[in-house]
Amino acid sequence: MRYIIVGGIVLVVTLLVSKLFLALNLVHFNKYPIASKIEEDNSSKQLLTTGKSIYLVYCSSCHGKDGKGNNDKAQDHTQRMAVKSIIDIINNGSNNFKSIYPQGMPAGLVTQTEAKEVAQYVANSLKGDKPKAWEKCATCHNEDGKGIPFIAPNITTYSDELVATVLKNGKKGVIGTMPSFEGRFSEVQIQAVATYIRSLEK
Ligand code: HEC
Ligand code: HEC
Repeated sequence: MRYIIVGGIVLVVTLLVSKLFLALNLVHFNKYPIASKIEEDNSSKQLLTTGKSIYLVYCSSCHGKDGKGNNDKAQDHTQRMAVKSIIDIINNGSNNFKSIYPQGMPAGLVTQTEAKEVAQYVANSLKGDKPKAWEKCATCHNEDGKGIPFIAPNITTYSDELVATVLKNGKKGVIGTMPSFEGRFSEVQIQAVATYIRSLEK
């Protein structure tokens, strides 16, 4: 009987001490990265390499080798969107991406002054002071600007979804017209080119 009590106490103390060690982070389980993590890193490097070669062959003729848009011939990929493009979309609305947002974006949601403030905010990737009028955009683009599925796209960064949609539908905007590349790339190739474009973002 005595052994059982002593054994029990030892067990409880051992458990408590090990919990304490874990809580204080004295045991480093993550000292060695697990294999799946290493593969993940390799594959994102691989995506970047593949994406870059696709970009140089199919996209750089318009977007420039450096992705800066070739003196406004195409979108500058070092930022998600320039003020000029955002103001144009606010004033004129847009319905390029019918395959995924059939309703499009309606024109004239805000006043001209509000449009300027909100365009600055969006061009700056939603950093800095949030203008009051942003609430009218947030109903569709979400408070954080990352979009809502089937309602409106992510306007903070070039998401895989946006790049896939542009390649499928093409795009007509204030800068010019991008042709559709529908059926030209596999899903992984699209993910790769999106990964590369994100790497150009400031
Ligand atoms: C009713 C929902 C709705 C509201 C409200 C809305 N948007 Fe949009 N927005 C969309 C949709 C849908 C698209 C995709 C348009 C397309 O298919 O061409 C879009 C596209 C955009 C784009 C272009 C993205 C791209 O890659 O071409 C910008 C920038 C944008 N919206 C900014 C705003 C701002 C700023 C506001 C607030 C003044 C706003 N939106 C309000 C639905 C909305
Ligand atoms: C023939 C010229 C041309 C080619 C080739 C081209 N683009 Fe574009 N792209 C454009 C133009 C012009 C725009 C800007 C449209 C606008 O908003 O006025 C654009 C815009 C974009 C955008 C931004 C869309 C948005 O909603 O903000 C992305 C992403 C993009 N292109 C990706 C690509 C990729 C990836 C390739 C290569 C597979 C490519 N483009 C090839 C002309 C081209």
